[in-house]
Amino acid sequence: MRRSVITATGSYLPKRIVTNDELSKRVDTTDEWIVARSGIKQRHIAADDELTSDLATHAAKAALEMAGLTPDDIDLIILATATPDETFPASATVVQKNLGMTRGFAFDVQAVCTGFLFALATADNFVKSGQVNRALVIGAETFSRILDWEDRTTCVLFADGAGAVILEAEDGAGTSDDRGILTSHLHSDGDKHDLLYVDGGPSSTQTTGFLRMEGREVFRHAVNNLASVVHEAMEATGLTTEDIDWLVPHQANKRIIDGTGRKLKLDPKKVVLTVDKHGNTSAASVPLALDEAVRDGRIKRGDLLLLEAMGGGFTWGSALVRW
Ligand code: ACO
Repeated sequence: MRRSVITATGSYLPKRIVTNDELSKRVDTTDEWIVARSGIKQRHIAADDELTSDLATHAAKAALEMAGLTPDDIDLIILATATPDETFPASATVVQKNLGMTRGFAFDVQAVCTGFLFALATADNFVKSGQVNRALVIGAETFSRILDWEDRTTCVLFADGAGAVILEAEDGAGTSDDRGILTSHLHSDGDKHDLLYVDGGPSSTQTTGFLRMEGREVFRHAVNNLASVVHEAMEATGLTTEDIDWLVPHQANKRIIDGTGRKLKLDPKKVVLTVDKHGNTSAASVPLALDEAVRDGRIKRGDLLLLEAMGGGFTWGSALVRW
C-alpha cells in the first residue's frame, strides 16, 4: 500500500517578539489575564515588509534542507493559509517562484486553523493516488494583519509564523505499523460561521476585514469536536489513545489543549505545547509545534503522532501519523 511518509519538517518565526506586557500598553489587558485564560506569554509578529509567502518560503527551505532535496524534487506545493498575500493568485505559487521551482503545481487551501490538516490530507490523497511522489505541505499565516488591535478579546491571542513538512511516497504493508499518514479525518459545519469569521472580503466588502470571534462559544465546541475527531482516527486504525506517543495539537489555547488531553486521558508529558511562545498562529501552529519536537529529539522514528486542529467555519480534523 502506498503511504505518504513525512520525511522532513521546517519552520520560521518572524524576529519580532511581542510580550503580553507590551500588549498591555496597547489595550486594556494584563499578562496575568492572558496567561490564565490562554497560556500565551508572547508571540512573533511579522515585519511590515514580510508577507505570508516569505514566512512560508523560509519554512519550506528549512524542510527541503532537512530532507536533502532540491525544489525541483517536489511535485506539489499546498499552502494552508487564511492570510494570503493577495486575493489571487494563490500564495503557494509565490512560494514556488521564491524557491526557484520550475515544475509541478501549487495551490492554497483555506480552512483557517484547521488548514494544515486539510492540506496534509489533500496531499496524502495525491500521493496515495500515484499522481505525485513528493509534496511540500506548508501552513503559514500573518494573522497580525487581520486583527483589530483595539479588540482585547482577540488581538492578544493570534500571531504570525510558518511550518512545513515534506511528504514522500513509500510502500507500506497496509498495517498501522507502517510509517506515514495512517488515517486522516476532516469535518466542517458552515452553520457556525458567525462564531469565528473575518468581516470582510473581495466579494462582500472589497476590504480585508478583521477577525471576529465569540471566544466562549468557540471554546465550548472545541474540546468536544477535537476529542471526537481523535476518537475517529483511533477507531479507523484499531489503535487506542494509549498507543499515542505524541499529541501535536493546534495551539489555540492551553486550556483547550489541556481539556482535550484530559478527555483523551493522555499523559500531559505526551503533549507538544508551543502556545506559550507562539500564540495562535492558525494554520502554521501544528507544523510549527511538530518541527520543534522533531528538531529537539522528542519525536523519534516509529513514534505514533496524533495531529489535530479546529478553526473557523467551523472546521476540524485529525491525522494519525507513524514517524
Ligand atoms: N484582558 C483582560 N480582560 C479581558 C480580555 C483581555 N485581553 N479579553 C476579555 N476580557 C474580559 C471580558 O471582557 C470579560 O469581562 P466581563 O466579565 O466584565 O464581561 C472577562 O474578561 C471574561 O471574558 P470571557 O470571554 O468570558 O473569557 P473566557 O474565560 O471565555 O476567555 C478566551 C476568553 C481566552 C477568548 C476563551 O474564550 C477562548 O480561548 N476561547 C477559544 C477561542 C480560540 O482559541 N479561538 C481560536 C480559534 S478556534 C480554535 O483554534 C479552537
